[in-house]
Amino acid sequence: MIVIGGSSSPRLSASLAKELGAPLAKTEVKRFPDGEGYVRILDPLDGQEVVLVSNTFPDEKIVETMLFCDAIEEFEYKRFTLVIPYFGYSRQDKKFNPGEPISARAMVRALEVYPDEVITVDIHADSTIEWFETCEAVNVSGHAEMAGKLREMGVDYVVSPDEGRIRTAEAVGKIVGVPSDYLVKERIDGTTVKIEPKHIAVAGKRVAIVDDIISTGGTIVNASSELKKLGAREVIAACTHGLFASNALSRLATCCDKVISSDTIDNQTTSFSVAPAIARELAK
Ligand code: R5P
Repeated sequence: MIVIGGSSSPRLSASLAKELGAPLAKTEVKRFPDGEGYVRILDPLDGQEVVLVSNTFPDEKIVETMLFCDAIEEFEYKRFTLVIPYFGYSRQDKKFNPGEPISARAMVRALEVYPDEVITVDIHADSTIEWFETCEAVNVSGHAEMAGKLREMGVDYVVSPDEGRIRTAEAVGKIVGVPSDYLVKERIDGTTVKIEPKHIAVAGKRVAIVDDIISTGGTIVNASSELKKLGAREVIAACTHGLFASNALSRLATCCDKVISSDTIDNQTTSFSVAPAIARELAK
């Protein structure tokens, strides 16, 4: 087996290679003066099981993923697994208004032609996986890895900021061995959310708010304020995919004691790796 790392999550590719006891292929990624991308795989892949780790976020990484896939096709590989740690565009998994695309389906159609299998991590909408027709596809959960980090941090309550992530809070809380609950969120628009007041027994506790994605930070900022109002001693925001759009990190710093994310997208809050979750799936 050999791992190829796209430029969006180099730490994860390196950890995955280590976890698998496989080499990390040498690659070249650059941009032409006009902005077009270029990739090159510098190690031979013939006869090998190839694992490419590459995101569909931000947009330029979609092209990079496609170029790597095409380069891999030029080799006589044994099996090709495309790991998409952060599957960008999964939030548009249906048409909300007439005339819109199903963006998640568009991503699937662009990429499914290349690999034998696709592995995603904590994909926003599980339904995205069902769009894959020409290759196998599976989503793995990084809950155990997030829970491991939160346990180490001494968290004693786990809360999801909305009903959509109840199962995440339950799963993480169970692994950490602490209670879990959820808040009720109303999304007003892309940047504004409202959290309904709700009583949760978090007074004096170190609470983790867990989510799949932090983008603008609006969800976490509001959830955190609610938990602080309820008397939480400390609030830790934990997500798998730290997108941190515009000034999200400075907004979060005003109300969260700590922000942690996984290595699906390399950033300054990356504190745990989902490599073991991917390796477990590859070992099946
Ligand atoms: C929404 O359903 C997701 O699980 C996240 O809660 C959302 O994407 C976070 O976005 P933001 O950080 O912009 O509030």
